[in-house]
Amino acid sequence: LVAGVDSSTQSTKIVVCDAETGAVVRSGRAGHPDATAVDPQRWWEAFEQAGADGLLEGVEAIAVGGQQHGMVAMDADGRVLHDALLWNDTRSAKETTDLTSELGGPQAWVDAVGLVPGTSFTLTKLRWLRDHEPEVAEQVADVVLPHDWLTGRILADGGARPSQWVTDRGDASGTLYFSASSNEYRTDLLELGLGRVCGVPRVAAPSEIVGRTASGMIVGPGTGDNMGAALGLGLGAGQAVVSLGTSGTVFAVSDTPPADPSGAIAGFADATGRQLPLMCTLNAARVLVAAATMLRVELDELSRLALAAQPGAGGLSLLPYLDGERTPALPQATGTLGGLSRTNATPQNLARAAVEGMLCNLADGVDALRQQGSPVEKVLLIGGAAMSPAVRAVAADLFGVPVAVPAAGEYVGIGAARQAAWALSGADAPPQWERTIEAETEPGNAEASAELRERYAALRVGLHG
Ligand code: XUL
Repeated sequence: LVAGVDSSTQSTKIVVCDAETGAVVRSGRAGHPDATAVDPQRWWEAFEQAGADGLLEGVEAIAVGGQQHGMVAMDADGRVLHDALLWNDTRSAKETTDLTSELGGPQAWVDAVGLVPGTSFTLTKLRWLRDHEPEVAEQVADVVLPHDWLTGRILADGGARPSQWVTDRGDASGTLYFSASSNEYRTDLLELGLGRVCGVPRVAAPSEIVGRTASGMIVGPGTGDNMGAALGLGLGAGQAVVSLGTSGTVFAVSDTPPADPSGAIAGFADATGRQLPLMCTLNAARVLVAAATMLRVELDELSRLALAAQPGAGGLSLLPYLDGERTPALPQATGTLGGLSRTNATPQNLARAAVEGMLCNLADGVDALRQQGSPVEKVLLIGGAAMSPAVRAVAADLFGVPVAVPAAGEYVGIGAARQAAWALSGADAPPQWERTIEAETEPGNAEASAELRERYAALRVGLHG
């Protein structure tokens, strides 16, 4: 048996899989605070809780997939100095602008590390720490990412400090101080952000055994959650994933790094030695939750209401920037309901506009991925909101390609488990694990979808430039 951990923004899930087939044998879950700044200790407690009652009994290898980018800053004794600032924390907006211009603009960053600075990325958070809490910044000895930290705690069996902090190429590529194309840290950029160089985790090879727990479990390097999902799904050529969780992401696996100075597509690395061009929005599943709250209905009723409305929601548009937005880069934006009239003010249209607004943003990501050289012929739709029949129906129309929904599964955890099985096997490639597709929807309505997307683009440009 092997285990994979998904340490996400809201919870920690552990799946235990058969190492040969990948079949999920059992799983556990525990919530932790859903915030933008969190004490990492909460992740360890949730891990222990999720793994209680012998969940890990008989498990030979384990690896962690974690929310990307979070800044876990520690002193020389491994003590966490500050709540981890997470990917969805936008406080570093000014620092992001400063860093962008200090290196010479977006293109200079793309040339250096394949990414344009954004508030999500670790280095902008280190700059924020330097500028706002200099006495804390001075004590930083090591900075690691959420999955590195949890892996370290597992290796140290709950103790504060493993003998060495370890990361993988996938998660390292989301920091702004590691390049996915040269596979090297850019300590000069770390210095630019923090004002000096501090310790960074060693980058392990994709299937390396990075250590063993006291109980004898092999520990794999782990990776970022999107890289984990790509590994769990076994993404093929022409396929892209749209993941609708707390964040909305669109990504594909490719051999050529993207180079997008608009910042829409980030040049991340995957968990196997390839590239993972990715677009991320801050507003996905929670847009549906917000609409359901306004309508005082549950999410399944929201889906029914949305399907009862005509495509286009009678001209009602919901620009879903509830938490500000990352792509497009509008960290200070708020959401907008546009085109409201006496005739379209119905619960059905509001529900439909929430689904359409969330997906229009991600359809821009599918287009951007294509522009960066990834042919998207099919979309695999995953994450909590993919369970909504309304979302499935609207997604195929807006993306303009067939949308397949894999059988319900914790794909980040499964990907981490697959990495653990790979480390355990010592083989050159990860084991072949089957995945089943539950439903597939063909696109239709191309003209109506194009009109809808134009309407959203006009509203966005009108309000935000
Ligand atoms: C990707 C990103 C998010 C987090 C969510 O760049 O910031 O998808 O990884 O956990």
